[in-house]
Amino acid sequence: MSRCRRGVSPPAPGIALEDLAELRRWFDGYVRDFYFDDPARQRNIALKEEHTHRVVDAMSRIAAGIGLSAHDRAIAEATALFHDLGRFRQYRDHGTFRDPESTNHAALGLRELAAARILHRFDIADRRQVCEAIFHHNRRFLPERLSERSLLFCRLIRDADKLDIWRVFDEYYRAGERNPVVELGLTESGYVSGRIMDCVLERRIPNYLDLKTTEDFKVLQLSWVFDLNFGPSFAMLRERGYIDSIASYLPGNEKTRRMLARINDFVGVRA
Ligand SMILES: [Fe+2]
Repeated sequence: MSRCRRGVSPPAPGIALEDLAELRRWFDGYVRDFYFDDPARQRNIALKEEHTHRVVDAMSRIAAGIGLSAHDRAIAEATALFHDLGRFRQYRDHGTFRDPESTNHAALGLRELAAARILHRFDIADRRQVCEAIFHHNRRFLPERLSERSLLFCRLIRDADKLDIWRVFDEYYRAGERNPVVELGLTESGYVSGRIMDCVLERRIPNYLDLKTTEDFKVLQLSWVFDLNFGPSFAMLRERGYIDSIASYLPGNEKTRRMLARINDFVGVRA
């Protein structure tokens, strides 16, 4: 005899690693609806699509590296898969990835996810965990009121996301391309603003609103190390050599060298 009384539904299942393939298929179909015929605009969609898959890979490695359970790894990977879902509609509707000029892509992604009801069959606690981490993934700082468990998933997605954003910029600089969408419309000047440099020397992450040049933006990218959380993330950063590579495109002067020494010391003791 069934233990469920008539009219009482069984509890919704938690997200499991076996569900990831189906979620990934849904994601791939969703993104295909945003493809452009115009190669220049399609390049920006493809950039975010590839970014997502690589963030899932980085997340899988970090989550395994810190010994998360299979259930928590599934939550972490689902978060990674959907963290930038809002990017596609943001770009189609506004032609930019700059949130202040368009819309908060995290909140937009959550609205898209809710409308598609793709996570609705899962346990509400797991859904909330995924949505909360997505909501906070692009914030400058995490709020203090979060629970330990929420903080864990927020920190995981922020690490995995950064690791792949470093790859995107590293490849971009190596290719010597110029794409105003990637460079936030900033222009090259050959110097780093004093305010940005001082921020990094104090081990702080500069504010996007203070960026004046493409060099400032490169320094901002390097400063993200101060918001990296887990040993495996530092190990991956070091192994991939992103810091030295991005730094090689900055003007070489004493202040830059001091800043890099500060960053490399910070990474060295944590990797
Ligand atoms: Fe994002």
